[in-house]
Amino acid sequence: MWGSELVGQIPTFQFDEIMTDDVKLLNLLEDLRDIGLTLTKGVPAETGHLAKFVDRISYLKVTNFGSVHTIKSKTSPNNLAFSGLKLGFHTDLNHYHYKPNITVFHCIQQSKTGGESMFADGFKTALQLKEEDPDAFKTLCDTYCDYIHKGRRGTVDSCTKCARPTFSFDRYGNIDGVHFDQTSRDIRLHIPVEKVYPYYKAIKDYYDLINRPENRVNFRMQPGDIVMLENTRILHGRNAFTVTEGAERHLESVFMDWDGVYSKIRCLREKLGMSFHDY
Ligand SMILES: [Fe+2]
Repeated sequence: MWGSELVGQIPTFQFDEIMTDDVKLLNLLEDLRDIGLTLTKGVPAETGHLAKFVDRISYLKVTNFGSVHTIKSKTSPNNLAFSGLKLGFHTDLNHYHYKPNITVFHCIQQSKTGGESMFADGFKTALQLKEEDPDAFKTLCDTYCDYIHKGRRGTVDSCTKCARPTFSFDRYGNIDGVHFDQTSRDIRLHIPVEKVYPYYKAIKDYYDLINRPENRVNFRMQPGDIVMLENTRILHGRNAFTVTEGAERHLESVFMDWDGVYSKIRCLREKLGMSFHDY
């Protein structure tokens, strides 16, 4: 688990090596598994290369946003992601029952100023909350809320919804998921009225904790960078920036799942003469 000590220390790889060297690719995927965040540099800053990167690993996950989707600032946005506004810490697509495990961004053009990405370790911060404020932690473990997204892509309408707690656990009681997004949290809460205030307070306390300097990693993506992050563990966001006509901030993004990534890890380990049965 990590905090601000990861500034300048995000595991970093070169695109050419990832595309040709199995050992480098295995290192990247195992760092993604262990740390939850990787950076690949030297990718051509053009559309289409993210799909090649994903093909080298496994396959992408199609959602209501499509397969490879474009995040491009607009002067008249219909989605917060397409504005120049700050996006607070969140995980993606909590409104899906099959929430994507991994989010991948490729920076094609960066804004002139601002627009830095922000990352925080959801597991570390959850356990920190448990230590500092057990009641807030318990509230976020026990309280389910609906996440909802209503939108349209082309001519196809969508309305996806899923109820989740903020923290989820595996069969051994270890935290295995963080689900947090204040922009897609439904306004309707199906909980007793006396639990509403403690729930909002717990959300606020956790949000403040994530945003402490000791817990955040700010990183300004450069054109040609690909960032992969574990979407069930790492919270991400971005600072505000000015939308400039003709010089729009432009990212491509895809979602992936651990099934494809672990499959690649096992296949690479076997190919390289390493044990793969424990993965
Ligand atoms: Fe996001």
